[in-house]
Amino acid sequence: MSAALKIDRFNLLPDDECEARIVAAKRLLGRRLVILGHHYQRDEVFRHADFTGDSLKLSQLAAQTDAEFIVFCGVHFMAEVADIVTGGRRTVILPDLAAGCSMADMADLAKVRKCWKELSEVIDPDEQVTPVTYINSAADLKAFCGEHGGIVCTSSNARAVLEWAYGRREKVLFFPDQHLGRNTAYRMGIPLEHMALWDFTKPMGGLTPERIRQAKIILWKGFCSVHQMFHPQHIHKFRREHPQGKVISHPENDFEVCQLSDYVGSTEYILRTVRASESGTHWLVGTELNLVNRLKAEMAPKGVTVQFMSPMVCMCSTMFRTDPQHLAWTLDNLVANQVVNQIRVPEAVAVPARRALDRMLEVVD
Ligand code: 13P
Ligand code: SF4
Repeated sequence: MSAALKIDRFNLLPDDECEARIVAAKRLLGRRLVILGHHYQRDEVFRHADFTGDSLKLSQLAAQTDAEFIVFCGVHFMAEVADIVTGGRRTVILPDLAAGCSMADMADLAKVRKCWKELSEVIDPDEQVTPVTYINSAADLKAFCGEHGGIVCTSSNARAVLEWAYGRREKVLFFPDQHLGRNTAYRMGIPLEHMALWDFTKPMGGLTPERIRQAKIILWKGFCSVHQMFHPQHIHKFRREHPQGKVISHPENDFEVCQLSDYVGSTEYILRTVRASESGTHWLVGTELNLVNRLKAEMAPKGVTVQFMSPMVCMCSTMFRTDPQHLAWTLDNLVANQVVNQIRVPEAVAVPARRALDRMLEVVD
């Protein structure tokens, strides 16, 4: 077998040559290949995706495909999920291994285990707490949830998952995104006083035993740096300028931004809602720039105006890592019978992680 082609050569190729290579490789690989693309991918990559979606839709598509190769144009945790839900029967490839998620990195197994242990000094977590991990997390945290009667959620099913969790135990430990946890729990009627913020840099999460006993949900102090760029004043300004306008935000935005929004939901939900609006509607959208720019261009001919929530350029820098050069490199290698950048979750982690993911997929089915 020939040696794998090196990325260095591809890094020097202009985008149009990569484009031609990607198209040619896709033609040669045919049904052996499926490319999944998250909505935050840049245009030059996104247009090559066979299927696009939010995290939930992409994980379901990965579970259903019978293609031999899944090239995941998204971030690391998404490719891990694809490998887990396919039971290792497909070859999952992440074009650039540096495409991580800074929010996912805010929780790790050692810190979550420490939290669980510290909680056990005050309450009995295995009896009283369901661990719920946002899908934006490493596979071993999903495994932790699988082993402790817990579950995974995404931005589109967080409410149904929390209802499932409260059907089993009285409290939830939610990681790593405090905002998705807080926004969802509040919409379910849990008051802010019954939410405690676990600061993983402090002993006991910086909480008193009383605060832990009283909490219905313990929120990990993680956040998405991209969604931190959207602020209430952006919404106030828009409302002054467009009193009839509509505001739609991703639930990774902070509490105030979500409270001020007319609609809150996943990337897929945002697209669906804006696409269904009538001509003349003016939207302010609080999520990543690549998605918003594409939506803006798509809706302009229909008379729908789409405006990005922040005056600053805020893209997800890790989603942006997947460029045409890396995509062309991975595909040309597949054509040459070489697999590069395969994501493989070890069986000891994948089995319990799959338990937590299967619970989620059952909840939303
Ligand atoms: P969605 O599942 O809504 O696409 O969100 C993924 C994500 O990482 C948002 O920052
Ligand atoms: Fe992670 Fe935020 Fe990027 Fe989503 S937008 S992948 S949460 S860093």
